[in-house]
Amino acid sequence: MYIWPCAVVLAQYLWHHRRNLTGKTILEIGAGVSLPGIVAAKCGAKVILSDSSELTHCLENCLQSCQMNDLPNIPITGLTWGQISPELLALPPLDIILASDVFFEPEDFEDTLTTVYYLVQRNPHVQLWTTYQVRSAECSLEALLYKWELQCIHIPLESFGADREHLAESALPGRHTVEMMIISLAKNVL
Ligand SMILES: C[S@@+](CC[C@H](N)C(=O)[O-])C[C@H]1O[C@@H](n2cnc3c(N)ncnc32)[C@H](O)[C@@H]1O
Repeated sequence: MYIWPCAVVLAQYLWHHRRNLTGKTILEIGAGVSLPGIVAAKCGAKVILSDSSELTHCLENCLQSCQMNDLPNIPITGLTWGQISPELLALPPLDIILASDVFFEPEDFEDTLTTVYYLVQRNPHVQLWTTYQVRSAECSLEALLYKWELQCIHIPLESFGADREHLAESALPGRHTVEMMIISLAKNVL
C-alpha cells in the first residue's frame, strides 16, 4: 500500500474544513489507500470509496484502510473512469468528490473527466476537491476543463497550512510540487 504526497495535502484540506463535513455525502475516486476519504469519514461525512473495477488490489487497499481505521461500514465500489457502469448509475446524490493524484497520466484525463462530467450533470452543485502533482509543464488540464464545461479555482496551499515539506507528521509532501483545485460545473451552465 502506498500513499501519494497528494493524499496528505488533500487530507490536510479536509481537516482544515472538518466542521463543514458532517453529514455531507462524499465520493472518493481513484482512492487507493483512501487517506482523504478516511479523514472525511472520521470527521462525520458519509463516504463512499471507489477505485478502478479492473484493479482489484486497489479496491482491496480501500477495504484494508477501512478495517485498519475502524470504519467497517464504508461502502467501496468499483468505478473505472470513462465507463458509465451500473455502479456509477447507482450512486446517491453527492456533495463533494475527492480526487487525490488522479490526474497523473495525460492520456487518461478525458476518461477521468467523462466520469466527473457525468457526476456534475447529476449533481449540479457538487464540487470536486482535487490535488495533483506537477510532473510536467506541458499537460494542461485547464483547457480540457473548459471543453467539458467545467471551471476550476486554485486553492493556495498556504491558505490551509499545507505549504510545508512535513504535514501531520508525514514527510511525504517533501519537495514535490503539489497543487490543489476545486472543480465544478461552469457558471454559465448552471
Ligand atoms: C497515483 S494513485 C493515487 C492513489 C490515492 N488517491 C493517493 O493519492 O494515495 C492513482 C489511483 O488511481 C486509480 N486508477 C488508475 N486508473 C484508473 C481508472 N482507469 N479508473 C479508476 N481508477 C483508476 C489507481 O488504482 C490508483 O489508486
